Parts: sequence; C-alpha cells; structure tokens
Amino acid sequence: MTNDPLSYALRNVPRYTSYPTAPHFHGGVTADTYADWLGALKPDDTLSLYLHVPYCRELCHYCGCHTKATRQEAPLVSYAAALGQEIELVGKHVQKAGPVRHIHWGGGTPSLLPRQSLIDLTVSMRVHFDLSPDLEHAIELDPRLVSAQLADTLATIGINRASLGVQDFDLNVQKAIGRVQPYEVVEKATTHLRSAGLDALNFDLMYGLPGQSSATILDTVEKTLSLAPGRIALFGYAHVPWMRKHQRLIDEKALPSAAERLELADLARNALLDAGYVAIGLDHFARADDSMAIALSDGSLKRNFQGYTTDRGEQLIGLGVSSIGKLSNGYIQNMPDVGNWRRSIMSGEFPVCKGLALSADDRLRGQIIEDLMTNYTCDLAQVCKTHGLSIQDLSEAFTALEDLAEDGLVDLELGANDNARVKVTAAGRPYVRLAAAAFDAYLADSMATGKARHSAAV
Ligand SMILES: C[S@@+](CC[C@H](N)C(=O)[O-])C[C@H]1O[C@@H](n2cnc3c(N)ncnc32)[C@H](O)[C@@H]1O
Ligand code: SF4
Repeated sequence: MTNDPLSYALRNVPRYTSYPTAPHFHGGVTADTYADWLGALKPDDTLSLYLHVPYCRELCHYCGCHTKATRQEAPLVSYAAALGQEIELVGKHVQKAGPVRHIHWGGGTPSLLPRQSLIDLTVSMRVHFDLSPDLEHAIELDPRLVSAQLADTLATIGINRASLGVQDFDLNVQKAIGRVQPYEVVEKATTHLRSAGLDALNFDLMYGLPGQSSATILDTVEKTLSLAPGRIALFGYAHVPWMRKHQRLIDEKALPSAAERLELADLARNALLDAGYVAIGLDHFARADDSMAIALSDGSLKRNFQGYTTDRGEQLIGLGVSSIGKLSNGYIQNMPDVGNWRRSIMSGEFPVCKGLALSADDRLRGQIIEDLMTNYTCDLAQVCKTHGLSIQDLSEAFTALEDLAEDGLVDLELGANDNARVKVTAAGRPYVRLAAAAFDAYLADSMATGKARHSAAV
C-alpha cells in the first residue's frame, strides 16, 4: 500500500446521507420555493414522511442528534399540537401527490409524546395524506422508556418497525457515555414490543466509545445476537464537540485511538458476519430474510437522512424542527428553533430556513455517491447517460481516486466509448466514504473555507 490505512481512516469526509451535504444548504430556498416544489408533485409521486421530535428525558454525552432534555409534559403536548398544524399545512399543498409509503418518527425520542398526541398525529396524517395500505410505519425508541403500555400505543397507531438505541452493553462504557441501561432493560423492551406484535426491530450499536475494548465490544455483539433483531446498525462514534458542546462530558483520554477504532469496528463486523448477518453499506447489518438484505440484493436499497433505508417513497417530506425533506427539485430544511418554527406554522407559513435547488451536476454526482454508498459500485457511463452529462465532467474525480485505486481500495474500469465503472473492492469497503468524496464537487471548497468539519472516515 502506498498510503498507511490509518491515514485513510483519519481523513475527514461526510457520511453522505445527502448530496450535496447539509452545510451547503442556503437561505435562497424559502417558504415560497417549498410551496412551488410541493405544488409540482404529481399523482405518481409516492411520499415518505419524517417527523422530528427534539426531546429526550436526558441527554446522552455522545449524542449528535438535534434534541434537548425535558422532564415535563407541557412542551411535548404543545410541540405535538404544532406538528399537527404543520401536517395540515403541508397536506393541503400535496393533494395532487401519490400515496405515503413510509412514515418515520425520529428524534430525539419521539415516543416521549403522550399517547393521545401520538394517536392524534397519526389520525391527522391519515386525514391530510393518502396513507398506503402497505405503509411502513417506523419509530426510534429509547429502550429505557419502553413499557407494555407504550408497546400497546405503538401497535394502536400502526407502528410496524422500531429501532432501539442500545450502543453498548458494558456498564463502564455506559457510565462513560452517560447512559446506563443494563441488558435486562433492553431485553424487557424487546419482549414488550414483540408481545404487542412488533417484531421488525433494529438495534443501534456504536464503536469508538470511551472505555470500549475488544472484550466489551464482542460481549455487546453477543448480547445483541441473543435478542436476534432483524437489523443492526453499527455506527462509528462521531466526536464533534465543536458542534455538540455536551460531548465535552466525554473524557477524550478514554477514547480509543484511530487504530483501536479500526480494530473495534472489524471485531464487531466479523462477529456479525459470522452470525449470518449480511453487511449493508457503511454501517448496517441485516438477517438474510430481512427486507433490507433483500433490498441490497435486488438493487432497491437507498440512503437518506435516516441512513440506509428500504423506504419506497420517492419524495421525502420533513416535519418538525430541523427536519430535512428532499423533493425532485431539491432539499428543504426546517427552522431549528422550536419558537420560530411554531410561530411560522401558526401564521400559516412553511417553517423553512434553507435548502438547495438541485442542478443537473448535483443529481449526477448524488446518484453516483448513493450507488457507491449502497451497492459499492456505479456504472458511470449509464448514470451520465441518464442525467444527460458527459463522463468528461467527472475527470477530476478520476484523479482523486488514483491513490485509492493504487492501494487496491477501488477498481476503476475505463473502457472504449466512454464506458466507465467504479467499484469499491472488499478491502476498500470500510473507506467507501473516501470513494464517494472523490465525486463531491463541493468538498474542496468546504475544506478550504472551513464551512464543514466532518468526522474521521472510519
Ligand atoms: C435518535 S437516537 C435513537 C433513539 C433514542 N433516542 C435512543 O437513543 O435510544 C439515534 C441514534 O444515533 C446514534 N448516534 C447518536 N449520536 C451519535 C454520534 N455522535 N455518533 C454516532 N452515532 C450517534 C445512536 O446510535 C443513536 O441510537
Ligand atoms: S442518543 Fe437518543 S436518548 Fe440519547 S440524547 Fe440522543 S436522541 Fe436522546
């Protein structure tokens, strides 16, 4: 290898849950732009709704999500009321669009909303949108808060997929990240959910946390396997204290080194593969019979702001503070502040703060990056043809891929008649973000101007 694997792992690149990435959104996209874009939707445009609930009981030290702690019910009830108004406001503008195929409640901890608010909001979506009979209805859950009553509420509103934040089962690691939840808590949460008929489960695990060792991560994987979730996400801890101030509560001296992170990721990954899980993209695993493994094999796997998804809705509508939507015309992001977001909705205006209208070049590169992040390969000639652009437009990406190709991390096949394909090799898979970054036309600029600081590539 020309370059040390560690030097690749240390490169800071985006996670590409969108392209262009969110730091490039700007205020030129407004509420009026959004109204025009929603108005342009057609009856065959299927929809996906994302509802963001920015509240948790308490904050975990590592958390990078847009959320805040609350112990009171009043802010939750009032937030849900405004969310209901936003559903109505958007619903009125999408009457010509097709059915909703996917709903995702994310956060924060959306299940903190009172039972009646969860029911009212679901009814509101049913009234203002056309919900498909085969709707996938998913929610993110904190296992410490999953009771038999909550499981019953989730079943009542038709939730059919749940993701639990597990992170790590070791008590010392849990103390170091400010989130103590013994194995029995997670076991009980899964039992409640399964008893209510909710068996499509995902566990979020993390590597790179303070105090983790080979032994603790293997034990975490073993305990996870004993509860047999259909999907497992294995996220590398993104330590970004300059953006998330409370991450300063993490003792940096106890964080694994870059080499240790690579080893922890490898150990967990191999243990999951040995147990028969199929690796999906950068950080997901699924049992072979899970719809995500099936989506990988039939080429329908997608990547969006929630990470890897089998979401079949083509147009993503974000609801709630800071949520991001993606329509054919571009990205739209809501205001991050609850007060401003609510005031805007109450005055009948979309609470949009920024976004980005997609150019032909953005669409081309976005497609290449999504193909690489999901399938590890891209038929560049075909994608260029689809987007009416030339392979010559990508010449600087080929230069950027040279060192990865020399080190056997990607294969670049450049044939006659502009035939071109890029493939991430088995050895290159952990570094797929670097291959994607070669096609990112905004990256050099954002690095130079300091517009975006990213976490390490592995
Ligand atoms: C909204 S939370 C999950 C639901 C619920 N609030 C909980 O924590 O149980 C989403 C997931 O993002 C992941 N996450 C949060 N902060 C992260 C960070 N700094 N780096 C990597 N993953 C992170 C965690 O695995 C977490 O479970
Ligand atoms: S990890 Fe989940 S529970 Fe913890 S602060 Fe983040 S969103 Fe809240």
